[in-house]
Amino acid sequence: MAENFDVVVIGSGPGGYVAAIRSAQLGLKTACIEKDPTLGGTCLNVGCIPSKALLHSTELLYTFEKEAQIHGVIASDVKVDFPQMMTRKQKVVNGFTKGIEFLFQKNKIKKYQATATLVDEHTIQMGNESIQAKNIILATGSQPIALPFLPFDEKVVLSSTGALALTKVPQKMLIIGAGIIGVEMGSVYSRLGSEVIFIEALKGVCPPLDQALSAQLEKILVRQNMQFYFDHKVVSAEVSGKGVLLKAEGANGVKEFSSDVVLVAIGRKPYSDNLGLEKVGIEKDAKGFVKIDSFFRTKVPHIYAIGDLVDGPMLAHKASEEGVAVAELISGKKPVIEYIAIPNVAYTHPEVASVGLTEQKVKEMGLEYQTGSFPFKANSRARCTAEEDGFVKIIIHKKSKKLLGIHILGAHASELIGEATVAIQQKMTAEQLGDVCHAHPTLSEAIKEAALMVSKGAIHT
Ligand code: NAI
Repeated sequence: MAENFDVVVIGSGPGGYVAAIRSAQLGLKTACIEKDPTLGGTCLNVGCIPSKALLHSTELLYTFEKEAQIHGVIASDVKVDFPQMMTRKQKVVNGFTKGIEFLFQKNKIKKYQATATLVDEHTIQMGNESIQAKNIILATGSQPIALPFLPFDEKVVLSSTGALALTKVPQKMLIIGAGIIGVEMGSVYSRLGSEVIFIEALKGVCPPLDQALSAQLEKILVRQNMQFYFDHKVVSAEVSGKGVLLKAEGANGVKEFSSDVVLVAIGRKPYSDNLGLEKVGIEKDAKGFVKIDSFFRTKVPHIYAIGDLVDGPMLAHKASEEGVAVAELISGKKPVIEYIAIPNVAYTHPEVASVGLTEQKVKEMGLEYQTGSFPFKANSRARCTAEEDGFVKIIIHKKSKKLLGIHILGAHASELIGEATVAIQQKMTAEQLGDVCHAHPTLSEAIKEAALMVSKGAIHT
């Protein structure tokens, strides 16, 4: 007899493992199926966690090489032990994936290491074995998109997975796509000494960012020796044992680029093939995203889909929120996710973080708005630490004065955005945010000052 569960989650990334834990916490008999040998999905194994580990290691290097001198600290003969850097990164990853194993045991979640397919509305097949579920949560995530003429070999043609597992630092790295993965991995290898060249189809770095931040970030990355070719689309490629030769079409014709490796970072696509969706009548859109209603239900009401598998920002924390919400829905609760208050971060140096609407989006929506910004060079803590690049930009609704978007380019923006997220989620006005007492001297005072700029006036400007 096939074992029967209240909830079976397919996929153990930040959407799936969180959905499994919350389901178990709510008293549901839960199983989670993962095809890879370790739990945690893209984020923990080959995404957020290893990239942030490498970003931090290389930021230390950058600090010693490029920034320590202004503090009167002379760090001569700074060397890189690349294998040690990669070993530490892997240790961090292993710690987290084992941590999820522990949480599964603690919450009595049954784990299967297998590739799952739906056989019917309640039966999931894994090789010769099958299990039954009252509710199924699809959380299979996404995978890197390859260019049709440039398949990944993870040696010369890299996806983000390959870029996180190189055994030596390349002399030169071409990066197709100046989105979040591109600028993060480009930062890592540029700091390690690679010549990094971006080829981006659109204008500007991380095009969905507020344009004021994108423009400033581009200047900073150029100052850090990264090169950009915008409005260039890669049209062909030749790969040999020596490296890669790309042709990219721009306004002034075709340009050739060569290097030892190329990172293709042009986006990710949902992992929705071979899941047996067609067998049970679950629909996908043209891009392969599973179609759901506002309660994460597919066409089959007790089969849910969350995270990168469904349309929306491909972010680990968005998937986790949905994981919690879907488990609570199954348990009869009424969870609410404020999608406007989902923050977005790029871990460049300095970092970029934003929540809410960009100025271009507000314009596109035809809203009347006002903006205010405050530069970190006028912030006392940033002056003390010599981290003066960047600014906080706040967008408010002209009539109601409510916050529409908060955008931060600056040191520790990933941490600062927490306050901004609370303010947006709580639908605060700029004046309310500006009236909150902020400790002095802190970087967060720049948020207060930007809020005052757009309400009753900042003090330090
Ligand atoms: P992305 O969507 O952020 O950027 C892809 C870039 O490639 C775009 O700027 C696009 O215009 C460009 N592009 C597309 N086709 C091209 C072509 N043929 N030639 C040249 N340029 C081309 O995608 P990315 O960086 O691959 O990241 C995938 C997902 O992972 C994103 O949704 C991102 O949010 C998520 N992610 C989030 C991170 C974070 O939160 N810190 C870190 C890494 C990834």
